[in-house]
Amino acid sequence: MSKTKQSTVYIESRRITGIRDAKIYGHFLEHFHRQIYGGIIDPESPLSNEKGFRLDVIHTLKDIQPAVIRWPGGCFVSAYHWKDGIGIKREPAFDKAWRVEESNIFGTDEYMEFCKLTGSEPYICTNAGSGTQEEMSDWVEYCNQRSEGKWAKLRIENGHPEPFNVKYWSIGNENYGSWEIGAKSLKEWGRYVKEAAKMMKRVDPNIELLAPSISELDWNQNLLLEAGDFLDWISIHHYWDQLWQDNKLSSYETCMAYTLQIQDKITKTRNILGALGYIGKIRIAFDEWNLRGWHHPNIDSGTKDYLLARDKNDINSSYTMADAVFSACFLNSCLRNCDVVGMANFAPTVNTRGAIYTYKKGIILRTTYFVFELYTKYMGDTVIDTWLQKKESFTVTLEGKQIDVPVFDVIATKDSRQNGLSVAIINRHPDKTSELNLEGPDFIDYSSAVMYSISGASKDSFNDIKNPSNVKIKKTSIQFSIKDKKTVEVLPHSVNILVFSTT
Ligand code: AHR
Repeated sequence: MSKTKQSTVYIESRRITGIRDAKIYGHFLEHFHRQIYGGIIDPESPLSNEKGFRLDVIHTLKDIQPAVIRWPGGCFVSAYHWKDGIGIKREPAFDKAWRVEESNIFGTDEYMEFCKLTGSEPYICTNAGSGTQEEMSDWVEYCNQRSEGKWAKLRIENGHPEPFNVKYWSIGNENYGSWEIGAKSLKEWGRYVKEAAKMMKRVDPNIELLAPSISELDWNQNLLLEAGDFLDWISIHHYWDQLWQDNKLSSYETCMAYTLQIQDKITKTRNILGALGYIGKIRIAFDEWNLRGWHHPNIDSGTKDYLLARDKNDINSSYTMADAVFSACFLNSCLRNCDVVGMANFAPTVNTRGAIYTYKKGIILRTTYFVFELYTKYMGDTVIDTWLQKKESFTVTLEGKQIDVPVFDVIATKDSRQNGLSVAIINRHPDKTSELNLEGPDFIDYSSAVMYSISGASKDSFNDIKNPSNVKIKKTSIQFSIKDKKTVEVLPHSVNILVFSTT
């Protein structure tokens, strides 16, 4: 196999760029297709507990330490009334976002149980589409008030004497978009958010509030001038390979060009926050992200199929090393911007485009699952200034333009709880092994290191029911033989964490 020329990375361990918030390793679950029903719950399955939770899913999810899980939508929430999903007597409702019946079997109490089982922090997104500000603040009361008020009393009656203490609440989802039920104009939005925030924070002043945003100055100016003082976060979303209408997946190479666009979204939003004076007060929650957009065509068509097409999201061969490499680049960007990006939610986690796929007899771990496993287990919390100087690249054509894609994306971290250094090394190259020369700190023992790697035999490798372990994590011991030259060979289309201990 041919090699690229060597690149060099400099790691300046004395220059700490920030402490990352573990919520960047967060997830998202929506009432869409098989994410909730048939995903995390399935009362008929022998793999489920007495409450219907799929234990294989719960255990596997818990293992990637989902610091926070956003629920219940997504577009779904903009016509969802949470009061339909509590208590013993529940009626089904028609879900106007996705045009299916919602059974309401999974509601607030079940979500809280799910968060407890997976060891994650709840994050509720409210209905700012067809819902009212009062409905939102009633939800805060149901979850967080000890006993005052009819909704808090109802929670107690429903078997939960202790408040759920939900800290993170979003006022709506993508309300700027024409596709969203109850979409708001730029002028309406700021005022709407302010009134919602006022009521919600009067019920519980300790909550943290998010509001949907886009990386546009006008939208944020209007939102922040009206409601900025009530907000702790603004939320942004992006799916780079947009497949809503046509499920034509981009090639590995195109996906590598997409990795260069991740930073743009963050930079624009950071600059807007800066221009409006909110850096240090309001952080960015990238609370829906995935390389591949969900496929849900024809939602506004009366005649074309809009339901069966959704099964295409669950073709396991779609989730290759492109997804793993892209996702690792996304997490590297969050680490690099840890002063302003405090939360990110992979959308979604189970089924659709998720990291875990469920079927009757078990689950399949898609390539992205291993990225979360590596980052949550082996990357530290303290981000170190890391830069590539000799940068090799390869060329990709995107929309008729020639793009230079750097072979490597590298970032290093230390951990405040233990010594050592972890370096996330991504080789984007489709087919060449590449050498990376490390110019690192002196306190590290270079004579031995461990490298955890995700790589498949080909850039298009994937896991499915017949071949569940085509892609997995491999552990290798690395010994740098030449004392003053620390060079590591990195396989093509791979994600790696190199872990050093101190001397
Ligand atoms: O395509 C999935 C949808 O994407 C989510 O419901 C929504 O929030 C986003 O636009």
